[in-house]
Order: sequence, then C-alpha cells, then structure tokens
Amino acid sequence: MKKITNSFKETAAFGKELTAKLTGGTIVLLSGDLGAGKTALTKGIAKGFGIKNEITSPTFTLMNVYQINKKTSQIKTLVHIDTYRLKDEKELIEIGAEDYLGKDNTVCIIEWPEKISKLLQNTNVKKNKIISISIEHQPNSNQRKISLA
Ligand SMILES: Nc1ncnc2c1ncn2[C@@H]1O[C@H](COP(=O)(O)OP(=O)(O)OP(=O)(O)O)[C@@H](O)[C@H]1O
Ligand SMILES: [Mg+2]
Repeated sequence: MKKITNSFKETAAFGKELTAKLTGGTIVLLSGDLGAGKTALTKGIAKGFGIKNEITSPTFTLMNVYQINKKTSQIKTLVHIDTYRLKDEKELIEIGAEDYLGKDNTVCIIEWPEKISKLLQNTNVKKNKIISISIEHQPNSNQRKISLA
C-alpha cells in the first residue's frame, strides 16, 4: 500500500489512521532518511492511541515508553525506539528494549530498524506481527511517499 502526503499534518494523520490496524505485539519498522517523517508518523500513531504526552524523538534516550490509558484499547504501552545513535545492539538490550518487543499488550515503533536487524531476527517475534513502513522524500520538498508492507 502506498500513500503520498504533502505535509507533516498529513503524515501524522496517516499515522493516526494506522492505529486501528495495530494489534498487541506489533512491531512497526520505520525506514527512511533523516527528516523523512518517521517521528511525524509516530506522533500520529500516539495520538490515535489517545496519548496526551508530547512525543519527542528518542535520539539520545534510545527508547521512550508511553502508557496508553484509553479504556477501549487492548494495547497498554507504546514504545518508541530510535537506533540512529546506537553503537551496539547491546545498548538496547541493557535498557530493557527486548522485554517490549512482541509483548502482547504493547506496540513498538522502531526508527532505523536496519541497525538492529540481528536483534530483530534473534528475538521471539512472529513475522506476521511486523509491519514495515518506508518514508521517502519526493522532489517536491514537503511531499513524502509512504509505503507499507
Ligand atoms: N509530508 C511530510 N511528512 C512529514 N514531515 C514533513 C512533510 N513535509 C515536511 N515535513 C517536515 O519534515 C520533518 C520530518 O521530521 P521527522 O523528525 O518526523 O523525521 P524523521 O524521519 O523522524 O528523522 P530522523 O531520522 O532525524 O529522526 C519535519 O520537520 C516536518 O515538518
Ligand atoms: Mg525521528
């Protein structure tokens, strides 16, 4: 599935719509260059889950964990991981990220997933729980192509 967006707002809105498709244990792999809109999409997903906190990029913290308080949601935790500055997969393991991957009542979103491909292969995550999304810049500066597999 492909979607063209023309602004931050449209990308976030697309993320918000996606929320309905996310079941517990899902891992969303978000690929795309710097400034593609991975965090923008994550903000939309968080909004869809009713998270009121401001979503900031976990570039330095590596992982941010948000509680979902929406009564109607089976999913209780949203985990946002950004591996851009990660030097070694061990760093993520040390902060407990593995415990969240594939966990029943949790959705994990991972920016720069290619950097932890080994970790993702080694964890007990079902293939059908992985959603791969790539966001690409387009020649028009505010346009992005979002592809979902
Ligand atoms: N169609 C669009 N969708 C999303 N963001 C857009 C769009 N057009 C312009 N932008 C701008 O592009 C930037 C996207 O930033 P964002 O932090 O979401 O990227 P990112 O992919 O998470 O980058 P990084 O790898 O640095 O974390 C924002 O400044 C946003 O306003
Ligand atoms: Mg980002």
